Amino acid sequence: MKRIGIIGTGSIGRVHAHHAARVGLPVVAAWDPKPAAVAAFQSEQPKVELEPSLERLLARTDVDGVVIAVPNDLHEPLAVQSLKAGKHVLLEKPMATSVAACDRIVEAAKACGRSVQMGFVCRRMPAVEMAASMAREGRLGAIYHVKASMYRRRGVPGLGGWFTTKARSGGGPLIDLGVHLLDAALHLMGHPRVLRASGATYSTFGRRMKGYAYTDMWAGPPNFTGTCDVEDHATALLRCEGGATIELNATWAMNIPDDSLPDGLAVFGDAGGCRFGLQDRRLTVATEAHGAPADLTPYFKADEPGKQAWDSQAQAFQKLLEHGGEPIATAAQGRAVQAAIDAIYRSAGEGREVEVV
Ligand SMILES: NC(=O)c1ccc[n+]([C@@H]2O[C@H](COP(=O)([O-])OP(=O)(O)OC[C@H]3O[C@@H](n4cnc5c(N)ncnc54)[C@H](O)[C@@H]3O)[C@@H](O)[C@H]2O)c1
Repeated sequence: MKRIGIIGTGSIGRVHAHHAARVGLPVVAAWDPKPAAVAAFQSEQPKVELEPSLERLLARTDVDGVVIAVPNDLHEPLAVQSLKAGKHVLLEKPMATSVAACDRIVEAAKACGRSVQMGFVCRRMPAVEMAASMAREGRLGAIYHVKASMYRRRGVPGLGGWFTTKARSGGGPLIDLGVHLLDAALHLMGHPRVLRASGATYSTFGRRMKGYAYTDMWAGPPNFTGTCDVEDHATALLRCEGGATIELNATWAMNIPDDSLPDGLAVFGDAGGCRFGLQDRRLTVATEAHGAPADLTPYFKADEPGKQAWDSQAQAFQKLLEHGGEPIATAAQGRAVQAAIDAIYRSAGEGREVEVV
């Protein structure tokens, strides 16, 4: 039986541990330098041994794979260190904070003969899986445009902390939420290469710090003396090989009336199209039948979409550890998403369309 360790026992490290346990993937060890994060983790996972250092965790011979759930700037060094220690890696999104860092992870994985599964959990949502399956079967025809959006009215995470500090996070909602959306969009489209990007970013709310009016905060409480030098809204048009386009909108904060712009994906193909929220339990495909517009509503199981997606991600990592093979979300796909994100930031800075490299 294969076993895992958790590196970073903050909000998402705890979610990973919960779902690994649910699917029967034993978590035997964890490491986090922050005592409060360790204490919260231990209260939920009393049987998991908390190691005094990363080296001690990586030296354990009963740890076959690790989940890396740490601030974004640490993804590269900790992934490389884990791969060199012979561990397979389930790496949280974004893959890193630059495409050069992604390349170093890919090289390390190759050199060490170990795998990296990207934590693109949104593509495991039942509605996304159903739409992707219909796309693969050709039910949507040639997909020529996808619109992928997440809008938050007041959703800056951990204002003043690592999320809003560019040197630690690599950016704001574009690299935080946008990577999920872009990965799901590319997954639906069959992973075409993104060739060019035209993007714009806006920094309107978080930088006010004390003037940021909010009701609740993921990764809070805010540190008003900390840093906020990232965008809070990003929009981009991406051009893919073959001519298809993706419109991407990722927002932590904007003056948007509640429920006025739906989150999720809208997928347009020449034989069918659909629009759905990531956690939707049903999907309607607009198509044609008998010479008239017609709707298809495929059945799929989606009682608890979020839980199903997280369980499915953990199961896929377990399968990778047990049987090897290609990860369900590969390092190459993580790198492709990061390359597009880098290009969007570059485009926003230069005020023009740029090549994705
Ligand atoms: N898949 C998702 O939907 C999702 C959601 C939220 C966050 N994330 C990603 O997960 C990662 C962590 O985010 P979070 O919300 O859990 O943040 P967090 O701040 O709650 O947790 C990060 C943890 O990493 C720990 N840490 C810092 N340096 C470390 C080191 N050298 N070794 C081990 N641990 C270290 C911190 O002490 C902290 O407990 C980020 O990359 C984020 O983008 C993914």
